Amino acid sequence: MNKDLPIIALDFPSGQEALSFLDQFNETLNVKVGMELYYAEGPALIKAIKQRGHHIFLDLKLHDIPNTVKRAMSVLAHLEVDMVNVHATGGQDMLEAALKGLTQGTPEGKKRPLIIAVTQLTSTHPEDLFKEQGVEESLEANVLRLAKLTKDSGLDGVVCSALESTMIKEEVGRDFMTITPGIRLEDAKADDQTRVLTPIKAKQAGSHYIVVGRPITQADNPVKAYHNIAFQWQSAF
Ligand code: C5P
Repeated sequence: MNKDLPIIALDFPSGQEALSFLDQFNETLNVKVGMELYYAEGPALIKAIKQRGHHIFLDLKLHDIPNTVKRAMSVLAHLEVDMVNVHATGGQDMLEAALKGLTQGTPEGKKRPLIIAVTQLTSTHPEDLFKEQGVEESLEANVLRLAKLTKDSGLDGVVCSALESTMIKEEVGRDFMTITPGIRLEDAKADDQTRVLTPIKAKQAGSHYIVVGRPITQADNPVKAYHNIAFQWQSAF
């Protein structure tokens, strides 16, 4: 992963659409492959994207018993992607097992992919945290608790709103990575994202990486939109 570049969310229903989107670019990109695309196309698409030289965040959000996650991570490690993730609510044993599986599965001489955790989904409403999950603390306190658990389990960081990056950096540590979606340029439509920040604000909040989907993939000129966002991300202090 190149820290200076945004991660483009390849939220396309088919490999063909994802690859023709990528073919518009003449440079190495950071891309995110999520469940829709991976379940449709599998490892073959990962290989095709890697062959084009791009860095890949494989966003499958694993959440199962520790042994199952460990074995799955070991298999994913063979794909030689750059970043993978799990749900922090799987607990410390599961998080440690994920890291172990990933480390064991990484081919010799290759770098272990970064492994990050989702704390609470951004779709979780604060009131549902108690109503549905029986969690009595605030959403913010719960996100922080899960971020600390992720750090204590040896993982590299969390996915979170850029609005939470500052708090997590202060409480969990500066080196602990925050990867943040919900990025929009000033005046752009928010789509279904409720809490959005610009690339500059996200950088100032301490985000290590930003994930950007529709502002690039649905733009009239995706390459221009990408360069605009990348420029803002790079130029923020
Ligand atoms: O199109 P947009 O920029 O909103 O896409 C953001 C990407 O980040 C999507 O792939 C979405 O699934 C993902 N994501 C998110 N919020 C999270 C975790 C992932 O928007 N908490």
